[in-house]
Amino acid sequence: MERRLLLGAITVLTIVSTAAATVNCTETGAGRYADTSDTTCKNYTYCVYDSSTSSYLAYNYVCPTTSVFNPNTHQCTSSDNYTCNNTSSDDTSSSDSDSVCTSDGYVANPNSTDCSSYIECVEINGTYTETVYSCPDDTYYDPDTTYCESDYNCTTSFTCTSTGRFANTADDTCETYYYCVLASNGTYLQYEYTCPSGSYFNPSSAVCTASYTCSS
Ligand SMILES: *[C@@H]1O[C@H](CO)[C@@H](O)[C@H](O)[C@H]1NC(C)=O
Ligand SMILES: *[C@@H]1O[C@H](CO)[C@@H](O)[C@H](O)[C@H]1NC(C)=O
Ligand SMILES: *[C@@H]1O[C@H](CO)[C@@H](O)[C@H](O)[C@H]1NC(C)=O
Ligand SMILES: *[C@@H]1O[C@H](CO)[C@@H](O)[C@H](O)[C@H]1NC(C)=O
Ligand SMILES: *[C@@H]1O[C@H](CO)[C@@H](O)[C@H](O)[C@H]1NC(C)=O
Ligand SMILES: *[C@@H]1O[C@H](CO)[C@@H](O)[C@H](O)[C@H]1NC(C)=O
Ligand SMILES: *[C@@H]1O[C@H](CO)[C@@H](O)[C@H](O)[C@H]1NC(C)=O
Ligand SMILES: *[C@@H]1O[C@H](CO)[C@@H](O)[C@H](O)[C@H]1NC(C)=O
Ligand SMILES: *[C@@H]1O[C@H](CO)[C@@H](O)[C@H](O)[C@H]1NC(C)=O
Repeated sequence: MERRLLLGAITVLTIVSTAAATVNCTETGAGRYADTSDTTCKNYTYCVYDSSTSSYLAYNYVCPTTSVFNPNTHQCTSSDNYTCNNTSSDDTSSSDSDSVCTSDGYVANPNSTDCSSYIECVEINGTYTETVYSCPDDTYYDPDTTYCESDYNCTTSFTCTSTGRFANTADDTCETYYYCVLASNGTYLQYEYTCPSGSYFNPSSAVCTASYTCSS
């Protein structure tokens, strides 16, 4: 009897269709929008503004495994959390234990120092499914907006030199910080995180706290 392989993380290189979707990006603006013609609630369109042509590029994606696109939060989410009128089941997969995901949504890919890709996080039964996406050509993942943008300046002035959490001094809102982990091969893994809503990174205590006053 054949068994399906359980995949940890699924890497999707820009295999997206740009075929006609029901989403008109000119009307919606940049962002992710449900493809309303898809009764399974899995397809969505990602609209990216291309400043060089002053027009939108539309990319069609499918939510991973059993997750569905929630049009209210503009994210793929566990089918437990968003009821599609007609959900269809798909094959399931489980996520890595050392997930970079902490909530449903999108995070920068720590392996992608040139900001050319990002990770979609979907919690399914308590574990995160991570799907890696490449940004469209000449666009860069901006962790503040969670969009790939043509005018995002990817330059990071920070490089890990020891383990721990460090303020992102380029962020004058004090909402982001760097987390440095020493890998077994002696190099540092550098992650950029955003503090929970309403909290700010205190460089003295190296934690996110609501009581910290950001003065940049
Ligand atoms: C999208 O919407 C804009 C503005 O309403 C309209 O001019 C354009 O024709 C629409 N595009 C398509 C493909 O329907
Ligand atoms: C959803 O996306 C898949 C993959 O691109 C495509 O095969 C399918 O036809 C789409 N469904 C709808 C209703 O557009
Ligand atoms: C699902 O919804 C519940 C209740 O609203 C919420 O507590 C939980 O965080 C949600 N899970 C995800 C992955 O969004
Ligand atoms: C989904 O189901 C709810 C309740 O049955 C109904 O009110 C709503 O109109 C349906 N939505 C669609 C898109 O069919
Ligand atoms: C529900 O989704 C399934 C799978 O995509 C499709 O075959 C079926 O026609 C859909 N039913 C309705 C009522 O939209
Ligand atoms: C990052 O790279 C490491 C080492 O190549 C790999 O084990 C890990 O799965 C990658 N993570 C992502 C999210 O691509
Ligand atoms: C989640 O867990 C429940 C109970 O263990 C199970 O019935 C369900 O199929 C699981 N869903 C997915 C998407 O794995
Ligand atoms: C990007 O930011 C770096 C560091 O702040 C700066 O040196 C560089 O000129 C910027 N590049 C662009 C294209 O704005
Ligand atoms: C060291 O390990 C990390 C994570 O396993 C990997 O991302 C990185 O590329 C490695 N660096 C070198 C120089 O092998």
